[in-house]
Amino acid sequence: MTPDSAQQERYLHGYEEWTRRWMETRTAERELAFLTPYLAPGQAVIDCGCGPGSITLGLADAVRPGEVLGIDIEPRQLEVARSAADRRGTTNVRFEQASIYELPAPDAGFDVAVAHFVIEHVSDPPRALREIRRVLRPGGVAAIKDPYYPGFVFRPLTPEIVLFQELMARWQKHNNASTTYSADLRAHLLAAGFSRTLATAGMEAVAGAGQDAMVFRMILENQVKEPSFRETVLQQRWATESQLNAISDSASTFAERPDVFGFIVFVQALGFV
Ligand SMILES: C[S@@+](CC[C@H](N)C(=O)[O-])C[C@H]1O[C@@H](n2cnc3c(N)ncnc32)[C@H](O)[C@@H]1O
Repeated sequence: MTPDSAQQERYLHGYEEWTRRWMETRTAERELAFLTPYLAPGQAVIDCGCGPGSITLGLADAVRPGEVLGIDIEPRQLEVARSAADRRGTTNVRFEQASIYELPAPDAGFDVAVAHFVIEHVSDPPRALREIRRVLRPGGVAAIKDPYYPGFVFRPLTPEIVLFQELMARWQKHNNASTTYSADLRAHLLAAGFSRTLATAGMEAVAGAGQDAMVFRMILENQVKEPSFRETVLQQRWATESQLNAISDSASTFAERPDVFGFIVFVQALGFV
């Protein structure tokens, strides 16, 4: 693993408009409920891989007058996050471009560190966790949450859905990311130098009725159009152009089926310094 690993990694979902709309639906209150009891006014927080910043802004509300730093490898995400902070008038937050492998912070600079659905995308989770541990103070806590792909369920199992799941898993493998690392989060946190950990698993409906189905439809329709995902799938001959189009075209019919159902499984863990 070299210092420029982050540049060689390619982020699964890309940075088109649809991914922003998807991630902007997230809130710190809901997505990080397992961390809430450990948040307090005045704390310094770092949100690693903050994306469009909706979670980061919720963290800023929770620790005000404490300061929150959101970092992301992608400048387009940071622009969106900064605009959202301006619109909301949130002033105790700032955003910086950085890799999770090299956080722009001194040792022991933060009380709380968050990585929400980020470490699943990197090729060296232990290195990312060691870096998070480095920037936390004694008494600090890390909150890490990531999916466990083998636990994903989508019904009905149409040929398009089966292929879609297979392509997502293949991409992660091709990118040296793991679809199962989250099951070992407690061990990884201990190996990274945390003294104690807590972990729970959870489930989130992503293809039931209403809003859930809308989000799943958006993912199904757009993921296969994401330029670098599409290019890799075609180059590697994992699927043909017409199979990819079929996945995308099936999205609205699939999401509107009366028997549509799906959920993802995730692991959420706390690491205490
Ligand atoms: C699935 S998004 C999650 C965004 C946000 N945490 C949320 O849950 O809404 C993953 C984010 O991690 C960022 N990312 C991927 N690899 C990274 C790395 N090596 N260092 C920092 N950020 C990274 C991506 O640019 C993307 O914005």
